[in-house]
Amino acid sequence: MEFNVKSGNPEKQRSACVVIGVFDSRKLSQAGEQIDEVSEGYLSNLLRRGDMEGKLGQVLLLHNVPNTLSDRVLLIGCGKERDFGDKQYNTVIAKAITTLNETGSMDAVCFLSELNVKGRDTHWKVRHAIESTQDTLYSFEEYKSKSETARRPVRRLVFNVTTRKDLTIGEQAIAEGIAVSKGAHKARDLANQPPNIANPTYLAEEAKILAVQNDHVECQIIDESELKEMGMGAFTAVSQGSKTPGKLIVLKYNGAEAEKKPIVLVGKGITFDSGGISLKPGERMDEMKYDMGGAAGVFGCFVAVTELSLVVNLVVVIAAAENMPSGDAARPGDIVTTLSGQTVEILNTDAEGRLVLCDALTYVERFDPDVVIDVATLTGACIVALGDQASGLLSNHNPLAHELLNAGELCGDRAWRLPLWDEYQEQLDSNFADMSNLGGRGAGTITAACFLSRYTKKYQWAHLDIAGTAWKTGKAKGATGRPVPLLTQYILSRANS
Ligand code: BES
Ligand code: MN
Ligand code: ZN
Repeated sequence: MEFNVKSGNPEKQRSACVVIGVFDSRKLSQAGEQIDEVSEGYLSNLLRRGDMEGKLGQVLLLHNVPNTLSDRVLLIGCGKERDFGDKQYNTVIAKAITTLNETGSMDAVCFLSELNVKGRDTHWKVRHAIESTQDTLYSFEEYKSKSETARRPVRRLVFNVTTRKDLTIGEQAIAEGIAVSKGAHKARDLANQPPNIANPTYLAEEAKILAVQNDHVECQIIDESELKEMGMGAFTAVSQGSKTPGKLIVLKYNGAEAEKKPIVLVGKGITFDSGGISLKPGERMDEMKYDMGGAAGVFGCFVAVTELSLVVNLVVVIAAAENMPSGDAARPGDIVTTLSGQTVEILNTDAEGRLVLCDALTYVERFDPDVVIDVATLTGACIVALGDQASGLLSNHNPLAHELLNAGELCGDRAWRLPLWDEYQEQLDSNFADMSNLGGRGAGTITAACFLSRYTKKYQWAHLDIAGTAWKTGKAKGATGRPVPLLTQYILSRANS
């Protein structure tokens, strides 16, 4: 797909289609007015006749509109003008793309990017147009015998901006939009892969490929036997039950001078979470292939950051393992020693995410991080609390938490903060070890983060629980690519300030 920005007149576009917004009720956008004028009232006649109200998501495809140079004009309903915000904007872009794709317009000039979106500027509108487009066009067909894609798909999209001085802003927005989309695409592909394919070894191979492609990227893979030797007793307690060995994957991007402290991202990479000996119920267990959604997210962010050649140092660490029941698996009651020296009584082998993460979080101390953000599909409780709208955010450092919240608002991939009060810590008390891996009844998302907080005291740290946001269930089952936009926006905002 090719994207461009332009500042031109709608009637003068020589393209397969020009996309125009119509507000409820029957109110043409500015570009629509322009076409209406040159076509001597062609559009306003149609509206008056009742062909279209302008309700959000309505479409009307017109051919040979008088005195215009494009083959088609696609009218998109935008709903009430005063309600036109982020959500409505994404909806109309998505609607436009699906319609173009289904009706054979292989290139188009889209004037929706000119519409006023409450509180948003040109940069935002162009970038989001690209992200929504790529999001809409995504499909995962690697294992389908027959392709389901359109016969004449859109290949080239031009987004119009109001003034010529918006063009440079638009170009930058395109670059960012493409990079974020590419990262999200990678994250979705990784997470959608079946668990018999995307095991820890597969993730490691994918990481190695990135290092081959880019001189500023280094990759290091640490095998299960080494992890055991190093003293990562919690990590290996999870991976020991599986025939596919666990791996710690380290990716480094050196984009700034060597003295600059790196941003460190840590991803939970459980390539399949059966629960282990504390076996999960069978229903929807297939979805536990996405339990490497955190790994996919940090991997995708790494792709986006390197794509933009941002002037930052970034380290991504993926704790990759499979959580399986077997004669070698960890038992409830086992006590393990973590890399930090603290001991953990494993009361439930299904609380495995925190076990692999705690050792990875201790491991990253060696990078002398500026900040550490871990990303994990950590708790079902987070889905109960926040659903699929917001990722759970917990942090030991207020400024970092606020930067992440702001980044989320800006890019539309939002997070919501939960408290990490000391009072919750006692839910992790164990009779036999320094702590248990189970927080008991209430506040499951918080006690999971409390567990991690015991391994992150030496640096500024934030935790994102993406159990509800990383994938969709039901008919449109699949990975969402979140939180690639959020993480990338956080790093972009920092690189720009
Ligand atoms: N991977 C799951 C969390 C999860 C559940 C993510 C559902 C997405 C959808 C995690 O490893 C897990 O099993 N958590 C347990 C923790 C409990 C045993 C303390 C949970 O949430 O039930
Ligand atoms: Mn689990
Ligand atoms: Zn899990």
